[in-house]
Amino acid sequence: MHAIKNVLILGSGTMGMQIGFLCAAAGHDVIIYDAFDQALVNAQDRLRKVADSLIAHNRVDQDQADKGILRIKFTSDAVLAGKNADLMNESVPEDPKLKAKVFSQFNKICPEHTLFTTNTSTLVPSMIADATGRPDRFAALHFHDCSITNIVDVMPHSGTSKQTLDTILGFCKSIKQYPIELKKEQHGYVFNTLLTELLGAALSLASGQVASYEDVDRAWMGIMRTHAGPFGIMDSIGLETVYKATDYWAAKTNNAKGKQNADFLKTFVEKGNLGMKTGKGFYQYPDPAFLKPDFLEGIH
Ligand SMILES: NC(=O)c1ccc[n+]([C@@H]2O[C@H](COP(=O)([O-])OP(=O)(O)OC[C@H]3O[C@@H](n4cnc5c(N)ncnc54)[C@H](O)[C@@H]3O)[C@@H](O)[C@H]2O)c1
Repeated sequence: MHAIKNVLILGSGTMGMQIGFLCAAAGHDVIIYDAFDQALVNAQDRLRKVADSLIAHNRVDQDQADKGILRIKFTSDAVLAGKNADLMNESVPEDPKLKAKVFSQFNKICPEHTLFTTNTSTLVPSMIADATGRPDRFAALHFHDCSITNIVDVMPHSGTSKQTLDTILGFCKSIKQYPIELKKEQHGYVFNTLLTELLGAALSLASGQVASYEDVDRAWMGIMRTHAGPFGIMDSIGLETVYKATDYWAAKTNNAKGKQNADFLKTFVEKGNLGMKTGKGFYQYPDPAFLKPDFLEGIH
């Protein structure tokens, strides 16, 4: 198995930029490929901001960032991008057909030894494995917001070789990320599986009028000692995103409780109260009630 030196990132959007920078700051040579020249122009403009954000969160220091920036190249030339890659991480939009297309494209370009990984949030690797043309050298390697956490998910499919898995786990350590290794495929990995259940339960309590959403958050925050409860978290995700996912799964599984939760969220979405980004959701921003000392008065 080749040592991982050259990293290819597919997609220069939000995640591709963070992941590419993280790898470069850790000492890897990185090529960021995008099919759209304008996306690459925007990405190059954003590179310093991405670096500053990771420095501000103590993920990298100034010296690592400065040296890392010099190790990143941007291109829309697929052959140039792929010809020397040891590991590729794909961050194109969350569309299984598009992902299959780009993996198949790069299978023809990349050397035999190149390991392919996907940063998909919701799919599982077996859905794309055949299209990669190298299913034994393919797994999910999924990052969260790299400025706030060093937790990554490593999820093989049943055809991923042990050598591939071991190399990806070693690669995670080389870029100072802590890999959560999934032993079998799971939509949403570990964290989103937990979060989905938590948010669903919180919504059921409020939509079923068992407790107010403020009290649901109080219960969670007061006992778990966290800075936000499930409704505060939904405000930061964006209520239309939570609504769409809740509505989709309620319809797909014919789930009456899920439908009740979706209808509850819809009342906020229809008013344009989408959460933090619109200044109003369950709470008002920039100073939401749950961050004020009196929110948990009597508990502390
Ligand atoms: N945004 C997040 O918080 C987050 C977190 C974890 C994982 N993800 C996953 O990462 C992936 C990318 O998400 P994002 O938020 O970075 O998306 P994004 O929309 O910010 O970026 C996608 C990029 O892919 C490029 N692209 C489109 N078609 C392409 C093609 N054929 N070849 C190469 N590049 C192409 C676009 O030009 C764009 O620059 C998705 O699968 C998403 O589920 C996102």
